[in-house]
Amino acid sequence: MSIKSIKNQINGLDILWRNGSSSCFPWLWIRDHSESELDLHPDSKQRQIDVFSETPDNTIINSTIDHKNKSVIVRWQDQTYSSISFELLESMATVCLPSAQALNHGTHWNSAREIKIFPEMSYEDFMKNDGPKKWLNHIQRSGFVLVTEAPVTPESTQELMERMAYVRNSIFGGFSVWDNQLENPDDTAFTSLAIEPHTDGTYVHDAPGLQTLHCLKKDSIGGENQLVDGLAIAEKMRIEYPEYFKILSKINIPGRYIKTDTYLEAKRPLFRVNDEGNIVQVSFNNHDRAPFRLDNESMIKFYDAYKVFHNLANDKNRQFQFMLEPGKVLTFDNWRLLHARSALTGYRQLCGGYQNREDFESKLRLI
Ligand SMILES: [Fe+2]
Repeated sequence: MSIKSIKNQINGLDILWRNGSSSCFPWLWIRDHSESELDLHPDSKQRQIDVFSETPDNTIINSTIDHKNKSVIVRWQDQTYSSISFELLESMATVCLPSAQALNHGTHWNSAREIKIFPEMSYEDFMKNDGPKKWLNHIQRSGFVLVTEAPVTPESTQELMERMAYVRNSIFGGFSVWDNQLENPDDTAFTSLAIEPHTDGTYVHDAPGLQTLHCLKKDSIGGENQLVDGLAIAEKMRIEYPEYFKILSKINIPGRYIKTDTYLEAKRPLFRVNDEGNIVQVSFNNHDRAPFRLDNESMIKFYDAYKVFHNLANDKNRQFQFMLEPGKVLTFDNWRLLHARSALTGYRQLCGGYQNREDFESKLRLI
């Protein structure tokens, strides 16, 4: 959409677009969104103009189109001016509530067979200039990526993660190396027990965005990993179980993590939905669910809804099953996929860590 003409109205600047539609931007909005060097810091892109301390006199002298710099210039009676780029005006042409970024709809998978482009790449490819872009695209499309033939060291695994962004700290530390023989494991993840499909961090307000796992040493039987697309379950339930979908989008489910010196608790719906009704985040961990009580009728309905999700997540046909092997680095979207592990016997040593959702989104915007 490009600008055909502009016209000064009493309430604001009218922009007539070439497609025949028009948008009227209030004068105060124009001042507040000015991108001139004085109003928006050219380097930090932080707002310098303050339209609140003193009420601006929004009487205008004129408004013009600066085709060379692709912007609209508004000159005010107080001898100042505002400049707004075509790009910003075009991106704001229609009224739209700011909304949390939704997961990548249209690419969800109900079984491994539905994954059209298998998200796997060699370490050599990952280390090329466009490697991180392909890696991010795989995660964006399928919710996970496997990097094969990777050096089997914690250092190179951490470097792999840091090509995307810094590794996040948590109660488990930052980038970590662990095995299944800890004397006092503080999470089932550090044992040999089976773990049913779940997302990590239901007990923190800002659950980890990405999780990376690399098996460094393996002398074990069992321990297969499973991934399930929570987004696909959400979309299935939205259509086939609309009442349950609504319940799981509304009720804040508490998660908790309790140790001698730690008591974490956070609450959010299983399906976090934005203003447009799209799924932003899936959170599910039956192991870590904290006690809560609704009125009896609502509680039973909640159990019914939760059971449907639980059983779909545990349906083997929906799961992509594979074995973490030395040299194969798994990274997955913890806001979308659920992960699980079968019980194992023997010894395994793993390494990995978490990364923030906003850093993942940031990279996706820039690639
Ligand atoms: Fe986990």
